[in-house]
Amino acid sequence: MIQLKVDTSYLEGFVSREDILAFEKEVFRHRGVLEQKTGPGNDYLGWMGLPGEVGKAELAAVKEAALRLQGVCDTLVVIGIGGSYLGARAIIEALQDPLLRHRTGFPEVVYAGHHLSEDYHHALLRWLGTREVALVVISKSGTTTEPAVAFRFLKEYVEKRYGKAGARERIVAVTDHSRGALRKLASEEGYTTFVIPDDVGGRYSVLSPVGLLPIAAAGWDVDALVQGARSMADALHVATTLEGHPAGWYAAARQALYRRGKAIEVLVNYEPALGYLSEWWKQLYGESEGKQQRGIFPASVSFTTDLHSMGQYLQDGLRVLFESVISIENPRASLLVPHDPEDADGLNFLAGLRLSDVNAKAELGTLLAHVDGGVPNLRIVLPRVDEQVLGELVYFFEMGCAISGYMLEVNPFDQPGVEDYKRNMFALLGKPGFEVQREALLKRLG
Ligand code: PA5
Repeated sequence: MIQLKVDTSYLEGFVSREDILAFEKEVFRHRGVLEQKTGPGNDYLGWMGLPGEVGKAELAAVKEAALRLQGVCDTLVVIGIGGSYLGARAIIEALQDPLLRHRTGFPEVVYAGHHLSEDYHHALLRWLGTREVALVVISKSGTTTEPAVAFRFLKEYVEKRYGKAGARERIVAVTDHSRGALRKLASEEGYTTFVIPDDVGGRYSVLSPVGLLPIAAAGWDVDALVQGARSMADALHVATTLEGHPAGWYAAARQALYRRGKAIEVLVNYEPALGYLSEWWKQLYGESEGKQQRGIFPASVSFTTDLHSMGQYLQDGLRVLFESVISIENPRASLLVPHDPEDADGLNFLAGLRLSDVNAKAELGTLLAHVDGGVPNLRIVLPRVDEQVLGELVYFFEMGCAISGYMLEVNPFDQPGVEDYKRNMFALLGKPGFEVQREALLKRLG
């Protein structure tokens, strides 16, 4: 039984139930194409099997490596970028204590190689001196500049501090089974390694060791995460109606909105811990859909914080937006608003209420205001935030994205556009093989 629900009742007036149902046949056609692997990008559909048999064999090895890492460090640096880091960060940040920044008794996870900031990496290297350190370096290609540069610094740091043998105990690599510089290095150095399957693209890899190893090392229940994803995968596989297929329903609703000029989707949360889930979602949808001058632009906000900044635009700006609100029914903690005998702030009418009740009313009030302001809202309702439910959510978004991409008639599994900046960067940095581009760029820059 899946627990996630999609509520499109607040789309009425913009998009009707019938408008969504009109896509029923198309959604099931795309499901068939995905399951039979006959569509564009069909060599990148390994993610569909990760919650099932494909992932099972890996899970025990992942948990064993996680246990070993937990034994040698209090700080785990996860080195990766894009799909090689966002999924793990999304799940870990959704679950961890927001201020302690780790699960009690388990390592803190920090991140590197997801940008090229000298100040950040300098500060990280200095701070690690006060910690017991281990590294998980993740790169499918094994050649991505940002993580490769960060790993140079961190490998050198760990080797200096713990020696070559100590480094071998503290470094795990997740990469291609045979290709790439990281695979070669890992084999030469004798690191423990995990494989990113050939048929799993970066942004669809959270249920492979790419996501599972850091999540397990941080102390979270990867069995429950995979189980949640499996429940969703099973439900989507057997669904016979669009209403029984939440990912297809979501994809169809998005498509109906897009065709009515709503080209920007804003993912909304009312729990700051879900900020990186939005970052993961943005990569998934942005990189999968944004091609051939098509696609819904994925944006995100955290409310009520951003109601005091972006709220004005959402209420009153250009009407090209719709919102998808992640609505959490039950928070983990309980906190009652205190009574104040002075009542100087006039808030005693809230005394005795749970803070989550206040948050829920802010959510409903905002949703109604935005709908009145011309912004269609759909809700993705979760009973709570835990591993099982997050697993459902991950697979729901992945399948929704794959179907959505096919509805847009793009290949949702490639990312040709991300190569252009790399070409320019390599040319400007003087990488061998980029001489022609370098000359052209230098001429252009005068
Ligand atoms: O989704 C993708 O394919 C990308 O975001 C990649 O994950 C990202 O560019 C990192 O690539 P790699 O794992 O090869 O270092």
